[in-house]
Amino acid sequence: MERVKAFAPASVANVSCGFDILGFALDSLGDHVILSKNDRKSLRVASISGDGGRLPLEPEKNTCSIAIKAMLDQLGSDQGFDIELEKGLPLGSGMGSSAASAVAALVAANDLLDKPFEKKELLPFAMEAEKAACGTAHADNVAPSLLGGFVLIRGYQPLDVIKLSVPENLTCTLLHPNYQLNTSDSRSVLKDRIPLKDAITQSGNVAGLIAGLFQSDYDLISRSLEDVIAEPYRASLLPGFDDVKKAMLDLGALGLGISGSGPTLFILSEGKEKHEQFVQKAKETYDGLGLSLKAYFSKINTQGGFVIS
Ligand code: HSE
Repeated sequence: MERVKAFAPASVANVSCGFDILGFALDSLGDHVILSKNDRKSLRVASISGDGGRLPLEPEKNTCSIAIKAMLDQLGSDQGFDIELEKGLPLGSGMGSSAASAVAALVAANDLLDKPFEKKELLPFAMEAEKAACGTAHADNVAPSLLGGFVLIRGYQPLDVIKLSVPENLTCTLLHPNYQLNTSDSRSVLKDRIPLKDAITQSGNVAGLIAGLFQSDYDLISRSLEDVIAEPYRASLLPGFDDVKKAMLDLGALGLGISGSGPTLFILSEGKEKHEQFVQKAKETYDGLGLSLKAYFSKINTQGGFVIS
C-alpha cells in the first residue's frame, strides 16, 4: 500500500477539573489526512483545504509533518511522504484542531510503514506536534484523538495514559462562538502556583469525575464538573461566559466548561433531549454580543483515529 486516508476526531481537553490531564474524543467532527509515500526522502505538505489558507505548508511548521518526522527519527527512517490535509475543524477553536491533524497523519504513516508502533506508542510524536503548535507538549487533546473515549493522563514523565469508562448516555453539546483564541495566549493568563485549598478542591473533583464515569453516576459527574484553577482566569477572555454557563445549568446541563483553551464551550448532558434548547438559549446571549455561533452535538467517540482506506 502506497497511499492511505486517515481520520482523527476533535477532542475536548481539560473537561473542567482535569487541566492538562483529562480529555475526551468527539464523534464525526475531525480532520482527514491522505498520505502517500514518495521517493524523495522528504516530507512535503502537498495541500491543505478547509483552513482558509492560514496553515503553514512548510514541513517544519505543520503539525502533520512535525509528528511524522518525530516518528521517522525514532525509527531511523528516511522514508518520504506527501501529505494532503483536509481540515474539518476550525483553527484556534479549543476543539483539538492541531491534535487531530497530527494524529490523522501519524495513524496514516504508521499504517503505510506496516505498523511499527502500537497506537499508544504514537502519542509522544503527536505531543511533539502540540509543542510546536502551542508551546507545550500537553497530551489531553492528542491522547483522546488517538485512542478515543475519555482519557486520563496520570503522569507525563513517564507518560502514563489510562482510558476511562464512558457512560452509555453521556453526550456533549459544543458551542463555538465565531472567534479564535490561541492556546498560548489562553495559557499565559494562568498562575504558576495554586493555593492549597484550590488543589484540594480540584483533586476532589477529578477523583469524583472519574468515579462518576465508572459508576455511570450522572449526579456525581455533574457535581465534579468544576474548575478552580484555569476557568476563573480564562473566563475573562470569553465574552458571555458567565451568562451562558448560568443559562445552561438552569436548563439542566450536567456541567459547562471551556473546551481545552477555548473559545468553544462544552456542555455535558444525559442524552440529546436538551441539545436544541441549549443552542437556542446560547444563541440569544451570543447574538446580544454580536457573535455568531456554531453548535455541534456529539456522543463520545470511543474509537479514536483510524485508517479509512
Ligand atoms: N490543556 C490544554 C490547555 C488544552 O488548557 O491549555 C489546550 O487545548
